[in-house]
Amino acid sequence: MTRERALIDSMTNEEKEKKYQEVYKSILSLVEGEKDEVAMMATIACELHHHFEHFHWTGFYRVVAEKLLKVGPYQGGHGCLVIPFDKGVCGKAAREEHTQVVEDVNAITDHIACSSTTQSEIVVPVYNKSKNLIAVLDVDSDEPAAFDEIDQRWLEKIVEVFEIKS
Ligand code: SME
Repeated sequence: MTRERALIDSMTNEEKEKKYQEVYKSILSLVEGEKDEVAMMATIACELHHHFEHFHWTGFYRVVAEKLLKVGPYQGGHGCLVIPFDKGVCGKAAREEHTQVVEDVNAITDHIACSSTTQSEIVVPVYNKSKNLIAVLDVDSDEPAAFDEIDQRWLEKIVEVFEIKS
């Protein structure tokens, strides 16, 4: 069993909730008064990535044109630069405007593998104050089934800062 698997399996739901509450509080404090979306994305990617050891890639893909995503601030190995809305898990999250929780990326035919070690993924749509889709938040793990409804609920809550601040 890998260290990350042991960490995921050993964390109770209560511990996970508490950790997300701490990270959320930290993010709110760090972006207080900030309106620049890129600065906020960079801060959120950093905080999430460094608080959850099994987050191997944590970052944003921004909507840069009609039905086109382009990589934004991220932590982890290099991410692919451009993703059309009709490609990948990120494209599906953007296209359907619905969070994607993928327990096994190898079971997804059009998964885009920026890293050959990625096993599971969660992708959350991000909106601005006018409720326009501005990005997706993508988190990859090298562990299968690393993400659940707690992750979904908290990551959706975290990205709501863009609906308030930006
Ligand atoms: N896996 C994503 C692509 C982004 S890289 O994982 C950072 C997808 O299938 O859209």
